[in-house]
Amino acid sequence: MKKKTILQLSLCCLLLASEASLNAQTTTLTLQLDKPGHAVSPTLYGLMTEEINHSYDGGLYAETIRNRTFQDDWNKPVFWSAKGDVSIELDRRTPLNEHLPVSLKVDVKSVSVPASLVNEGFWGFPVRPNTTYKGSFYAKARKGDRDFSVSLESKDGGRVYAKAEVTGVGTDWRKYDFTFTTAADAPVTADAQFVISTKEADTYWIDLVSLFPPTYNNTPNGNRIDIMQLLSDMKPKFLRLPGGNYLEGDFFKDRFAWKQTLGALENRPGHQAPWGYRSSDGMGLLEYLEWCEDLHIEPVLAVFAGYTLKGDHLEGKLLQPFIDEALEEIEYVIGDTNTKWGAVRAKDGHPQPFPLQYIEVGNEDWFDRSGSYHQRFAQFYNAIKAKYPQLQIISTDGKKFDIQGGAAEVEDEHYYRNASEMESDADHYDNYDRNGTKVFVGEWATREGSPTTNFNAALGDAAWMTGMERNSDIVVMASYAPLFVNVSPGAMQWKSDLIGYNTLNSYGSPSYYAQKMFNTYLGDNVIVIEGNNIPQQWQKLNARDSAEGRKPKQIPALFYVATRDSKTGTVYLKIVNTQGNAQAINIKLQGASKVVSNGQQIVLKADDPSETNTIDDPKKIVPVASPLKKVTKDFTYNAAPYSITVLQLETK
Ligand code: AHR
Repeated sequence: MKKKTILQLSLCCLLLASEASLNAQTTTLTLQLDKPGHAVSPTLYGLMTEEINHSYDGGLYAETIRNRTFQDDWNKPVFWSAKGDVSIELDRRTPLNEHLPVSLKVDVKSVSVPASLVNEGFWGFPVRPNTTYKGSFYAKARKGDRDFSVSLESKDGGRVYAKAEVTGVGTDWRKYDFTFTTAADAPVTADAQFVISTKEADTYWIDLVSLFPPTYNNTPNGNRIDIMQLLSDMKPKFLRLPGGNYLEGDFFKDRFAWKQTLGALENRPGHQAPWGYRSSDGMGLLEYLEWCEDLHIEPVLAVFAGYTLKGDHLEGKLLQPFIDEALEEIEYVIGDTNTKWGAVRAKDGHPQPFPLQYIEVGNEDWFDRSGSYHQRFAQFYNAIKAKYPQLQIISTDGKKFDIQGGAAEVEDEHYYRNASEMESDADHYDNYDRNGTKVFVGEWATREGSPTTNFNAALGDAAWMTGMERNSDIVVMASYAPLFVNVSPGAMQWKSDLIGYNTLNSYGSPSYYAQKMFNTYLGDNVIVIEGNNIPQQWQKLNARDSAEGRKPKQIPALFYVATRDSKTGTVYLKIVNTQGNAQAINIKLQGASKVVSNGQQIVLKADDPSETNTIDDPKKIVPVASPLKKVTKDFTYNAAPYSITVLQLETK
């Protein structure tokens, strides 16, 4: 062989060898567009809600008066104070009605100095220019024919933002309505209080004081506009309601007793909620359903299953009243107006039934050490199925069991973990029984960051979501929890929440934006992906694992999932890079006959995983969309350090 040929051959071998070793290291995602993937659950991403962290009172529910029926504390009218020669006390001998057993007795002894009653609101009041507030209260006076002024004022009383007069307060209980509007030059501030004042000495009784700013869709007794907009932007598919622990309550009397949440506010007593404060029940069953309607989504209705958080439970015949109550509740939601509870719904203002597919029996019944859930579930299941065979029933103890030949269609699983745990377990559903009970991940969250999550949590969330989305033939629904936190001092009971707000403003955490991206960019079919040379990281053990002597293992550092819109051919490839260095990824679109060279990249990233959004810096970490050029059937994409990316690729 000639010298030159030998040289050429060895050069060629060298090149081949280096290409092979390069290939051995290149991270490759081969999207097998020519292989059938399963359908994506049409209800995959939704919302979960309950009264926690001032989710409704002092949160989504737009009422601004705190302790409006004077029941928040047994002994004193908390959040209320008096000014001038005035004394106030709770009065149980002069109730407004049988539902509201306490009123406030206001003794105005003299008016030589201005006399007033002040409510401090939920961490102040939301004052904005040119804004009309609708208010009302019940009142009576011992001597009668009295006049009041009502106003929103600065806390030092130095500035009146809006004011109205209420005249002719008589000697019998009556409701007085008013509206007032702030001026064009009013500030945007929460430094405000609500004041009822009088120039006439007398003894007065007051109850059910209410003041609403404008609400979403202008709904009376409605919701905060900004928070509803954040929810709507997420494009959720369902709302799991009303809990969570809030469904169950500490004791039977504290469960979510839906009948007591219906109708006029003066008929709603409210109740002690499990997260340390009372609920006004202004957010009642109908308001929950209308909340769903406003977002164009379906309720997933959890019914009280005869088990309380303190561990009391009822079985057998004793459970029947709660089964009846659940059947009536379902009738309230979907019964036509010829049914008893459908007619009540119509009387409450909503003749049209609501859509409903899923009923959940209880909440986290794996905590029921009595072992009664199987039996309780069977009783509910059989009664609901007998009347409403079309409904799918969700069990909550994470176990599959047969019920007279049938079985729960879906089981609710909950996961609260740190980011490394989420990333370690992102393949959780890859090997689940494909013919078994479907899964509703009814509560899940990566719990890092407070009050809302940080970017590391969003990375854990996104890794976990790739697993749920890839397995959305099994995981039919998933909802993050908790959804809300009021970030004002003392309002939070549970750290690491999705959406934060104070009296005036609201914002989404990095986890919120990760979810918004996953919900928004979603096809209807999962694409099978072969991943090669996926970068690895060392698992971070939690304190318990370390104490138990577990050894960390290597887990992926890069996570991915892809879906395709079968009508348009659009491919959504999601890539989660948990590491601080960029990752070059060779993306192959196997089986695509045509690929449009212009795509789009949507990137959520941070310089450091501890970074986050706050009420004062709400948009530090948000998704940024930009064109993606030169897309071919085989191209390289550089995933940014610490990033969650969606690549939108147009294929045929
Ligand atoms: O999301 C907070 C709580 O966590 C829920 O109320 C309960 O279901 C779970 O334990």
